[in-house]
Amino acid sequence: MAKKKTSAPKEQIGDLLHETRKFKPSAAFSKQANAKKAIYAQAKKNPVKFWEKMAGELVWKKKWSKALEWKAPDAKWFVGGKLNVTETCLDQHITGGRKNKAALIWEGEPGEKRTMTYQQLYRDVNKFANVLKSLGIKKGDRVAIYLPMIPELVIAMLSCARIGAVHSVVFGGFSPDSLRDRINDSECKMLITADGAYRRGQILPLKHDADISLQDCPSIENVIIVKRGDFLLRFKEGRDHWYHRLMQDADNYCKPTYMDSEDPLFILYTSGTTGKPKGIVHTCGGYLTGVYTTTKFVFDIKDDDIYWCTADCGWITGHSYITYGPLANGATQVIYEGAPNWPDEDRFWAMVEDYGVTIFYTAPTAIRAFMKWGREHPDKHKLDTLRLLGTVGEPINPEAWIWYNEVIGKKKCPIVDTWWQTETGHIMITPLPGVTPTKPGSATQPFPGIEAKILDENGKEVKQGGGFLAITKPWPGMLRGIWGDKKRFVDTYWSKWNDIYFPGDGAKIDKDKYLWVLGRIDDEVNISGHRISTMEVESTLVAHPDVVEAAIVGVPHEMKGKCLVAFVTLSGDTVPNEKYIQRLKDFVANKIGAIAKPEKIIFTADLPKTRSGKIMRRLLRDIAMGKVLGDTTTLADPDVLSRIKKRYEDD
Ligand code: WTA
Repeated sequence: MAKKKTSAPKEQIGDLLHETRKFKPSAAFSKQANAKKAIYAQAKKNPVKFWEKMAGELVWKKKWSKALEWKAPDAKWFVGGKLNVTETCLDQHITGGRKNKAALIWEGEPGEKRTMTYQQLYRDVNKFANVLKSLGIKKGDRVAIYLPMIPELVIAMLSCARIGAVHSVVFGGFSPDSLRDRINDSECKMLITADGAYRRGQILPLKHDADISLQDCPSIENVIIVKRGDFLLRFKEGRDHWYHRLMQDADNYCKPTYMDSEDPLFILYTSGTTGKPKGIVHTCGGYLTGVYTTTKFVFDIKDDDIYWCTADCGWITGHSYITYGPLANGATQVIYEGAPNWPDEDRFWAMVEDYGVTIFYTAPTAIRAFMKWGREHPDKHKLDTLRLLGTVGEPINPEAWIWYNEVIGKKKCPIVDTWWQTETGHIMITPLPGVTPTKPGSATQPFPGIEAKILDENGKEVKQGGGFLAITKPWPGMLRGIWGDKKRFVDTYWSKWNDIYFPGDGAKIDKDKYLWVLGRIDDEVNISGHRISTMEVESTLVAHPDVVEAAIVGVPHEMKGKCLVAFVTLSGDTVPNEKYIQRLKDFVANKIGAIAKPEKIIFTADLPKTRSGKIMRRLLRDIAMGKVLGDTTTLADPDVLSRIKKRYEDD
C-alpha cells in the first residue's frame, strides 16, 4: 500500500479498520441515477426474478424456459435460452439508433488516435469472424489472443463470440512460457497476436515471444498477426497470416452462431497460489446478464457518457468492463494502449480532458502512484467532466480514497469501490452511485441480487467482526468451472463450507452491515495463534507520515509459528536508523496491538509488482526466507527484486 501527502486534514487520515467517515450521495446525482433505492428491496424479494428481468433487456434468439437450475456447485442460468452475445453488444445498436455513435475511442501510447463507431466495429467484427471461419475455426474451438490494447483486441474477442469460438486472452505482458502453458492447457487452435506493442516507449516483441511459445504448442494451426508498427518478425509461411491482408477479402456480414445460454464464451487464466494457472470458464447468457446489469447500475452509463476503464483486456476487468458490459449498454468508451506515465505523469489527466471523460474506473495501485507523483499533474488539467469514479482490484486504503475524491473527483463524484474476481465474472460488492452512502475503504454492500456474508471457519455467520467472505447464493456470471479440472474447481471454491462459494478473501462486517474486504487469506499470517491481516498492518504502516508504500509477509518463526517482515518505501528525505525502526514498529503495535508488530523492517525504494500492479508478496516472502527466487516473469521491473534481495542479504 502506498500514500503520500493529501489535502485531507491530518486527523482524517486513518487506516482501513479505524475508518468512520461516511459520504452521502448528492441529491443531484441521485435524481438522475440509473439505480433507485427500491432496487435493493426488489432484488432481495426474489433475486432470480431480478436477474430474469435484467436478462430480458438483452437480445435473445430464443427465450429460456427456466431461469436457474442449481445443483451446487453447478449452476445453469437461463436454461434453454439461445443467444449470440454480439447481437446485444453490436447488432441492436446498429438498428437501434446508435449506428454512428462512437463505440471505441482509442489512443496508442505514441499518440495515434482512432475512433470506431458502432457501425465500424460491427463491420470489422463481422469481417474478422468470417476470417476465423475461413481458417477453419468452428463453434467450441479455443482461440488464444495475445495482443496489446488496440481495437483489434476487442474485435478479436467479439469475432470469436460471433461464431461461437471460445477466446482465451493472454495479457500481452506475460512471458512466452506463460503463453505456451495457457495455449496448451486449453488446446487452442489459433493464436491472434501482433508484431509488437508499445510500453513506456519501448517495443515489446509480441510475435517474437509468441514464436518461442509456439515451438511447443502442437495444437496451433494458424497465427494471425496484427501489424501494430513496423517491427521485425519471422514469418512462417503457411502458418502465419497478416490480419490486414485477410480482412481485405473478407465479407462484411457473418451470420451469428446461436449459442446455448450455458455454452462457454471464454476462458481466462488466473494464477493460483501455486503452480499451474487456472482456466476460469465463463458462459454466454448468465455472464452477459451480469456484466450488462452491473455496468448499467454501478457505472450509471448514459448515452452521452464518455466512459474510461483503464484496465487491459488481458484481465477480467477488461473483459467485463471494456468489451462486454459497456458495449452491451451501447456506451462510448476510451481505450488506451500504454503506461499512465508516458511520456509524462499527466497522461491520464490529459486524456480525461481531451475526450471529456465522465466515468473513470481504475485500480487503487494506480491511484497510489498518482499520489506519489504529486497532485500537480492532475491539477494541470480540466477534469470537470468527470461525474463518477471507480476502483477495483484490491482494497483501497482510505487515504487513497480521499485523495481520489478530492484531487480527481473534486468532491462531487461518487466513488464506487467494486469487489469482484475473475471467477465471479462481474461486480459483486459495490455501492450503487446515487443510492448507497460510501465509507472510504469499504466496498459497502452486495450488488442487488447477490448474497454475500461473512462466515467463520465453520460456516457460521459473523454479524459483526472479521471472518471469510462468502457468496451464499448462485449468481449469473459465476464461473462454471476450471477448464479441464473439475476437482480443482470443487477443492478451491466449494470445499470450505457446504454449497457456499469461497472467494479466498478475508473481510469484516461493521455495525452498519458494511463489508470491508481485507485481502486474500493467503496473505494472512497466524502469529502465536492470532490471525493478522497483512493488509491491516500495511494499511497502518501506510498511515505513518513517512511511509509511501509497504508490503508485509509472514515467515516462519521458531517461537510464534510465524512472524511479520515489512518491506517499506519511505518518503524522500527519511533516513532510517535503529531508533527509527523501533519507532515504526511501535507505531504498528500502538495502532493494532503488539502481536502485529513486524519482526523486521526492510527499506526499499520500490516494491516488486506484477504488470497488473499487484505487489508480489510471494516473492517478498521468498526473499525474506532467503529462498531462491521463483518465476519472475510477471514482474513489471525485475531489477527491483534483485535490489531488495541484496538489501535483505546485506542487512
Ligand atoms: C481483490 C479483479 C478489495 C480480492 C476484478 C479478489 C479487491 C481479487 C477488490 C480478485 C476491492 C478485487 N476491494 N479487494 N474492491 N477488488 N479485490 O481475479 O482479493 O484479478 O479476490 O479480479 O482482488 O482479483 P482478480
